Amino acid sequence: MVKVITYEELKAHSTKDSLYVLIHGEVYDATKFIDEHPGGDDVILAEAAKDATQAFEDVGHSDEAREILATLLVGEFEKDGALKLDSVNVSRSGASVSDAVEQGSNLMYFVPLTLLGAYFAWRFYGA
Ligand code: HEM
Repeated sequence: MVKVITYEELKAHSTKDSLYVLIHGEVYDATKFIDEHPGGDDVILAEAAKDATQAFEDVGHSDEAREILATLLVGEFEKDGALKLDSVNVSRSGASVSDAVEQGSNLMYFVPLTLLGAYFAWRFYGA
């Protein structure tokens, strides 16, 4: 039977001494591999207690990397674990929304101030 890994277990293995990574719904034990990782240890550590699928795929890992991955398999991630991860992700994307709003409001100041500057430049040099 396939071992089921809970979100709590995933979280409990989030240090270099014991590190699980979640990729495509499967949990892998990267502890022994992390020092050999060609991409460095920090990038994998940054994905601890998260869904690392996107980060793993974005790099375009080779078939060889996927073969190594297969040898590290611990088990399947629990079904509703994704929901718990989602709630973490939601708060994270919430932060990026407020970042975007902040950038928007910077623009709100920038545009009228530039227009005002242009108006005075025109008055000063034009007159
Ligand atoms: C346990 C999971 C992982 C395994 C087994 C693994 C394995 C490998 C292997 C074998 C390579 C060499 C290139 C290749 O064959 O594709 C590599 C490169 C790389 N990996 Fe991973 N990787 C894992 C997780 C991750 C994660 C989560 C990230 C996060 C972004 C990551 C980032 C990178 C980067 C940036 C490189 C490129 C290094 C370079 O070419 O300078 N890897 N990985």
